[in-house]
Amino acid sequence: KKDTFVFGIETSCDETAASIIKNGTEIVSNVVSSQIESHKRFGGVVPEIASRHHVEQIVSVFEETLKQADLTFQEIDAIAVTKGPGLVGALLVGVNAAKAIAFAHGIPLIGVHHIAGHIYANRLVKEMSFPLLSLVVSGGHTELVYMKEHGSFEVIGETRDDAAGEAYDKVARTLHLPYPGGPHIDRLAAEGQDTYALPRIWLDEGSYDFSFSGLKSAVINTVHNAEQRGEEINPVNLAASFQASVVEVLTEKTVRAAKEYNVKQVLLAGGVAANKGLRSSLEQAFINMDQLELIIPPISLCTDNAAMIAAAGTVLFEQGKRDGLDMNGHPGLDI
Ligand code: KG4
Ligand code: ZN
Repeated sequence: KKDTFVFGIETSCDETAASIIKNGTEIVSNVVSSQIESHKRFGGVVPEIASRHHVEQIVSVFEETLKQADLTFQEIDAIAVTKGPGLVGALLVGVNAAKAIAFAHGIPLIGVHHIAGHIYANRLVKEMSFPLLSLVVSGGHTELVYMKEHGSFEVIGETRDDAAGEAYDKVARTLHLPYPGGPHIDRLAAEGQDTYALPRIWLDEGSYDFSFSGLKSAVINTVHNAEQRGEEINPVNLAASFQASVVEVLTEKTVRAAKEYNVKQVLLAGGVAANKGLRSSLEQAFINMDQLELIIPPISLCTDNAAMIAAAGTVLFEQGKRDGLDMNGHPGLDI
């Protein structure tokens, strides 16, 4: 059987990325051009700047991706591109570039949901076995997704307010840490103790939904109250206390859902999956569950990349799914 090469493109937020995946599981090349430095002084991603960066970077990212793989577009079987959700102007750069290649070379075009991509990053580590549960935690999403087969996504719980990564970034800003704050809080948390009594937000009995805005406000209030009283806070312990709350709730709900849905695998996905506290808490929680396999991708495959988009795109390609050259970007796409 002939090998399948899928070229993936990701431009939904602040990374311009392309990758080539062989037979759905093997990374042949993987290039990520980050814009973080350009957004830092604004404390977050500025959509207009993101779009312009993608326009400037995308062709050189493509060239590097082909060069690393020693392939040309003539040898590519399909172009997979993130069609949503994300920043619309940013998405359109990737979508339009994908269409231009598909049109010029007569290659099939496949639109991929960004979160499906994050989940399929796990297939670059280990073959999936169904049914499975994925904890998706990123800057824009916090979801527990049940999959009974390839391409089938059932959201059994999601955040009712802030995404986990969003809470991390806002708390980091309160502690005067640079954007994106998640990795900085993670680093501080490793050195600190859970000494501040912050809430664990469980919501209704049995619910798999999440809420992080109350926790975020509790951290902000702690800082403001200390300032008003002229007291010093201990940022290292506050970071550790915040992370302890987030990790405890994410771990406990994931474990409960994995048991209730009797899944074979639990996959971790999204930028916050890079969090060391969360990774070790899940490892501890699942260590003695023999029937159940926990997969945690390497950090470079957790944050935004195009390898995950090509991996998800390969499954759609093999299922015969195709998009037309009228495909658009969808900022609020449902999975
Ligand atoms: O998946 P991603 O790269 O982009 C989105 O699709 O949102 O996720 C970015 C988010 C940011 O909020 C960032 O602060 C967070 O992931 N993040 C982390 C860590 N590394 C990245 N949060 C906690 N701990 C980390 N180590
Ligand atoms: Zn993402």
